[in-house]
Amino acid sequence: MAEDLSIVKGDKTAEYQSIIPQINALVTGEPDLVANLANTVAALKEQFGWFWVGFYLVKSDELVLGPFQGPVACTRIKKGRGVCGTSWAEAKTLIVPDVEAFPGHIACSSLSKSEIVVPVIRNGQVIGVLDVDSDRLDQFDETDKLFLEEIVASLDFQV
Ligand code: SME
Repeated sequence: MAEDLSIVKGDKTAEYQSIIPQINALVTGEPDLVANLANTVAALKEQFGWFWVGFYLVKSDELVLGPFQGPVACTRIKKGRGVCGTSWAEAKTLIVPDVEAFPGHIACSSLSKSEIVVPVIRNGQVIGVLDVDSDRLDQFDETDKLFLEEIVASLDFQV
């Protein structure tokens, strides 16, 4: 497929509804996990302009940094630590309107103000998380949760 994205600007729902089919087109037929995660975060970054968006993948007993877009980030996160490690431990999406108010938040960058973390669950196990950071407070809501969970659910995480 053509590698150019069509970037629609509108309300959040319209933007997700525009970018999700494009992400599906990018990953369909491509079996390589890293390639697909890389294109997914690149498309999300281009659509929404978030400060940081990326995947962490569970390897042994830690989350390890995977494909991302944005500034360099923490490489390894323990289960139960920070927003990502808590999302892993609780196997649920966490919306954090103000990261400074989240006990144990891991500040990879002082510019990050709010965050959403969506666990990737396969066969009942968390195998990774999608982490999105904004440099604005209170950036994420139930609409982001809905669509980011849809994106994560449709990705093929088999290597
Ligand atoms: N803030 C995250 C760490 C990852 S970075 O934001 C990219 C956390 O508390 O888990």
